Amino acid sequence: MTERIVLAYSGGLDTSVAIGWIGEATGAEVIAVAVDVGQGGESLETIRQRALGCGAVEAYVADASDEFANEYCMPTLQANALYQGHYPLVSAISRPVIVKHLVKAAREFGATTVAHGCTGKGNDQVRFEVGIQTLGPDLKCIAPVRDLALTRDKAIAFAEDKGLPIETTKKNPYSIDQNVWGRAVETGYLEDIWNAPTKDIYDYTATPEFPPAPDEVTISFDAGIPVAIDGVKVTPLQAIQELNRRAGAQGVGRIDVVEDRLVGIKSREIYEAPGAMALITAHKHLEDITIEREQARFKATVGQRWAELVYDGQWFSPLKRSLDAFILDTQRYVSGDIRMVLHGGQAIVNGRRSETSLYDFDLATYDTGDTFDQSMARGFIELWGMSAKVASGRDIRVAGK
Ligand code: ARG
Repeated sequence: MTERIVLAYSGGLDTSVAIGWIGEATGAEVIAVAVDVGQGGESLETIRQRALGCGAVEAYVADASDEFANEYCMPTLQANALYQGHYPLVSAISRPVIVKHLVKAAREFGATTVAHGCTGKGNDQVRFEVGIQTLGPDLKCIAPVRDLALTRDKAIAFAEDKGLPIETTKKNPYSIDQNVWGRAVETGYLEDIWNAPTKDIYDYTATPEFPPAPDEVTISFDAGIPVAIDGVKVTPLQAIQELNRRAGAQGVGRIDVVEDRLVGIKSREIYEAPGAMALITAHKHLEDITIEREQARFKATVGQRWAELVYDGQWFSPLKRSLDAFILDTQRYVSGDIRMVLHGGQAIVNGRRSETSLYDFDLATYDTGDTFDQSMARGFIELWGMSAKVASGRDIRVAGK
């Protein structure tokens, strides 16, 4: 039987050419698998037909948009995960769900190898291959761009030579990856890190010439998951989509950073994640009133470590799983409403309420009739500073000798 290879297919030039390129280089049959993670754009049926037109023996489209929102975006939200304090892991969290569907397709179609279109310089090759090694240890991996010398110029020549049903003239200088959690844009003009991004780079967020009126929104959470927007019930996917639209219209969630890739390169990235950033902001503010101080402080460091693991392609690792368990436990009381104003590129919280809040008005108030006994503060401070005071006494004594 002819060997079969499952290819992670996006519908773009590189992976379209990869179908025939892999076929010629290996003699294998190629099965194209596209995964819907809410990236929008062309219909998946169009993409499927293109794969067949480019020579795939089978083309398969997995609708994973709800799965992606529920099982990948929601844990990222619950972790308040921002790699290096900025990046909500847009591409990093999509790779594991794509891998899951690639491995599933490999099983269904009897393939021995999985192929992806990543270069040898990025994080995504690592995320794909570490994921595949974990979920399908018997499967091999190839990356035609990296391993079979499929350069951009060769791809265009190949497509024109074979008359593939794919646009080769439209020159997009950027490398773009997008899904419902956000959009990543890199390369081209942006590689000069002093260059400001031009307007045409953005798609999920508006640069309003005449800013729209401020948009006030109330997001309701249940155990760290958004369940309603302005009182209307939503699924996680709908919550992200709705906030992509509303926060995006106000220019919320634009990120311009130089980040540390796993392969040791620093690289310039432009992200737009209006829904993700609005949700993370709201979620964090709800945690501020519902999570106890020490648990909250510790959770911040756990969330940071979680983000690094996920960025580094360790989604399926034991440590990541253990941190998931911790994070999930912290979410038990993260229920209630957050009201925020979306305007001028910012999402600013201006109200919060929760049945499980730890905010105690009677303790906090400066009005008369509070329940906080201020006389306890003196003794507390004396003991709290005792250890540093003893040490400083010793410092003075030693310096004096
Ligand atoms: N640097 C980001 C990451 O590693 C985004 C990569 C997106 N890929 C792309 N082709 N633009 O998660």
